[in-house]
Amino acid sequence: MIYMCMNCKVFVYDEERGDTKLNLAPGTRVGDIPDSYRCPVCGAIKCCLHQLDGGSAPQREDQEPALKDLNYYRARGREKLAGLCGVYPVCNGDPEHTCAGQKYGAPIGMGGAGQGKNFEANYKALAEYRLKMKMVKPHRQPEMSISFLGWDIKAPVMGAPLSGVKHSMNDAMAEEDFYWGLLKGAEEFGTIGTVGTTSSAPKDLGVTTVGKNNGYGIPFFKPMSQKQLLELFQLAEKLDVIAIGVDLGGAGSTYWDHSDKSVYRKGEDDLKELVDSTDKPVIFKDIMSTEDAVKVVDSGASACYVSNHGGRVLDYGLGVAEVLPDIAEEINGKVPVLADGTVRTGFDVLKVLALGADIALIGRPLLQVCVGGGAEAVKMYFDYVLADFTRAMILTGCDTLREVDMDILDKI
Ligand SMILES: Cc1cc2nc3c(=O)[nH]c(=O)nc-3n(C[C@H](O)[C@H](O)[C@H](O)COP(=O)(O)O)c2cc1C
Repeated sequence: MIYMCMNCKVFVYDEERGDTKLNLAPGTRVGDIPDSYRCPVCGAIKCCLHQLDGGSAPQREDQEPALKDLNYYRARGREKLAGLCGVYPVCNGDPEHTCAGQKYGAPIGMGGAGQGKNFEANYKALAEYRLKMKMVKPHRQPEMSISFLGWDIKAPVMGAPLSGVKHSMNDAMAEEDFYWGLLKGAEEFGTIGTVGTTSSAPKDLGVTTVGKNNGYGIPFFKPMSQKQLLELFQLAEKLDVIAIGVDLGGAGSTYWDHSDKSVYRKGEDDLKELVDSTDKPVIFKDIMSTEDAVKVVDSGASACYVSNHGGRVLDYGLGVAEVLPDIAEEINGKVPVLADGTVRTGFDVLKVLALGADIALIGRPLLQVCVGGGAEAVKMYFDYVLADFTRAMILTGCDTLREVDMDILDKI
């Protein structure tokens, strides 16, 4: 019998021939392939192998596989996000991917705004940088822990604020469970989790979920009316969160165009008023120009978060890697710089830090695994990133984060 991986639709397995690379002897039936099998093309699990030659598709096994690794959770996420996100090996805004394409007024799901060129721009801009390999130096285990707003974290990596299970994730789980998975997964790994705000759940759901985690996390609010924001800031302070974020680019969120849930651009006075209204550190997100970065610092904010919202608000904007070095130079250490935008691996983390960020944040990949397996899978993703990040530090000759700068990069 001949089978095809229905996830990538590339890998074909012929039971008669077996597969030497997968160590499967000729005659090995699909039912006898071990649970540890992963598609050599896309990493999908065994149940994605479907029979091609006229017979019925193999039944999904009822029992859980023994090995629940990251590929298992990604495959679970792929099933739950079917039609919106293919959880592809490379999540890069490729126009051929399920998430791409104009939505003609429908929710944008997992893709980017408009034609998705801004999402793609993030990937392309980061891919233009290559890491320089430097091996001749005595070996040291790199030091990677940092202090962020007075909190020690294991490595300079965090989860980007995410939300919107109903519109963007096929209603695959409860919004609160999604936030919980992001927060606990990050915490169990050793970093700080963040959550967003969605129009399809109460405005305070993110912050109250952080509250249930004893305040360990950072809620990001959409730029609602100043009155609503000030109330949410008060609540966040009461719940003793680590810091409070506002995603200013949320003013372009397609889901918030309702009369009771409107979003607005904010002026310099608004930013100052928000910062002055609380003793908690405030972070402004979706900063893409040096001019805005200066205003963020002048407002008294505690961190500047460089992002174009994953390309989900303004199509044809620049990629984050195109603006990050100038913004970091302008900020010049006055406040920590956070940055996201197609950070997928530990190698990407190192590049984003070399371009000037203090912390790199991961968006879509955490969402995919959180939907697939909650906190456990989120922690696993951070572990995976840390392993490559450690290797990348060693291979570029960096013993400490202070040594990570543009000198370890080449631009092609
Ligand atoms: C489905 C989805 C929901 C998001 N929700 C929010 C949100 O509520 N608040 C926010 O500040 N950013 C939100 N973002 C943007 C992310 O915080 C982040 O900027 C972006 O995902 C980074 O790019 P990446 O996904 O390519 O890593 C969302 C992104 C996605 C894909």
